[in-house]
Amino acid sequence: MVRGKSTLFTKALVRTPGRSLIHGLTSGKHGIPDFHRALVQHAEYINALRECGLEVLVLKEDEDHPDSTFIEDVALLTPPLAIVTNPGAPSRRGETEGMKEILAAYFESIEEICEPGTVEAGDIMMVGTHFYIGVSERTNKAGAAQVIGYLNKHGLSGSILTLEKVLHLKTGTAYLEHNNLVASGEFIEKPEFRQFNILRIERDEEYAANCIWINEKVLLPKGYPKSRKTVEAAGYEVIDVDVSEFRALDGGLSCLSLRF
Ligand code: GLY
Repeated sequence: MVRGKSTLFTKALVRTPGRSLIHGLTSGKHGIPDFHRALVQHAEYINALRECGLEVLVLKEDEDHPDSTFIEDVALLTPPLAIVTNPGAPSRRGETEGMKEILAAYFESIEEICEPGTVEAGDIMMVGTHFYIGVSERTNKAGAAQVIGYLNKHGLSGSILTLEKVLHLKTGTAYLEHNNLVASGEFIEKPEFRQFNILRIERDEEYAANCIWINEKVLLPKGYPKSRKTVEAAGYEVIDVDVSEFRALDGGLSCLSLRF
């Protein structure tokens, strides 16, 4: 559904974390996650999605894939099509298994990224009908080119950005509709983002850049007061959610769901 230029979401897909979560990929900067606390935080995250008006579809845990709760990376969902990705991290490849079948209930058109292309959709940011794709350690140029080809087939467009420091594009930036772009670090001065009204996230709160717009509300990680003020001053209702256990695995709010 589209209101003005903003796509309103009606559903979200999430995956319950498994016990294997503690073996997920991590830069190791924030310790090891506590599984039980992660489960509580995941349930609170689902409540926040519901508060934004979404029907939440919950997939069961996948113990074979410790990072599988970061479901955003395995598919790009757009109104006319879904693209099942091919994650760049070898330990995450199998997370896409079964996704096509799950998405078939909601999307008529489903495409797939194939070798030599790799894509993790945390590297893709939707701005209306345009999609910015970060080429990163996980998403390569061949994968980005496949995404752009599929988007073009459906009347959408895409362009490539090179990332310098962050894991995924949306680790450091988030589009909040209405031309407002939350940006931290390397994204604050990015020439490709010059046309946006930049909501600057300070260095000591960089984690808060991974926030999500859902139907005029913004989910922000708990504990980042300056960022909260910045987003509120731009006119948004903020819901804060504690995702500290997922931060330990370099994941955040956007990574934990697929919104459509
Ligand atoms: N731990 C999330 C990732 O590295 O993909």
